[in-house]
Amino acid sequence: MQPFDLDNDSAYQAWREVRLGQYKSPGGNPLVHVRDIARLEPAEHAALLARCQAMNMAIYEAGSPVDKAAIRALGRQFGLQTLDMNLRADEDSITSLRVVAESAGTRYIPYTNRPLNWHTDGYYNRPQEQVRGIIMHCVSTSASGGDNLFLDPEIAYLLLRDENPDYIRAFMQPDAMTIPANIEGGVELRPQQSGPVFSVSARGALHMRYTARTRSVEWKDDRNTRLAAGFLSELLNSDALYIVRHRLQAGQGIICNNVLHKREAFNDDAQSGRTRLLYRARYHERIQGA
Ligand SMILES: [Fe+2]
Repeated sequence: MQPFDLDNDSAYQAWREVRLGQYKSPGGNPLVHVRDIARLEPAEHAALLARCQAMNMAIYEAGSPVDKAAIRALGRQFGLQTLDMNLRADEDSITSLRVVAESAGTRYIPYTNRPLNWHTDGYYNRPQEQVRGIIMHCVSTSASGGDNLFLDPEIAYLLLRDENPDYIRAFMQPDAMTIPANIEGGVELRPQQSGPVFSVSARGALHMRYTARTRSVEWKDDRNTRLAAGFLSELLNSDALYIVRHRLQAGQGIICNNVLHKREAFNDDAQSGRTRLLYRARYHERIQGA
């Protein structure tokens, strides 16, 4: 908790030094080759964990085929147990992200080939069901496009706090951002949900809720919240050193503490079989030890 305590500047400065030191190599290389994600070798586990400790994310490249059971097994090796139930998940609570035909008049961007703006997952969830860990695995990739960009929320926090600690204060307000209710055809699928952008768990871990989609969020109407949201938006659309750009290849995936991410537009080519399919598992736990 201490580095995230606005009244404890020395703890913050010490943490800040360590954190930025871990990013000395611009863009850092989060990629780790592993033989079998379901049964990691100790050295493979350690390599993934080290990257998660340094940047809250690691990208793996699996040397053997991966199915949903293997993804669950990977999660368990990092304490990721409780899968988030969401409206669109498959029956096993792992979501298959692919382009699907429009149905019932609604079209969720994750299931299209359109760009998906910066967000953390489950920002609309109830406080007790926040998404703290994610595994996203690429089964097959598109013909073109579809790069992912990632930013560690701790770096976002750090850059905001360096700019103005009042931005952090504003973003920690329990009503900093409100997600309007999800209503389809007159039926409320999810009630309105207010919450902070940044919060600190009882164990001292930083958690972030965010979406850049202006239609999906109402910011608290105060000066510092507005300025903080503007600053963050500029940061995310800049070439900040700390933003990791990676196009997940077939067999690669990311395991992370729900870092900020976006997806660029892509094009499938069904004829050549180059269609994008990602499995996504969302967990209520963070990665154990990171
Ligand atoms: Fe996402």
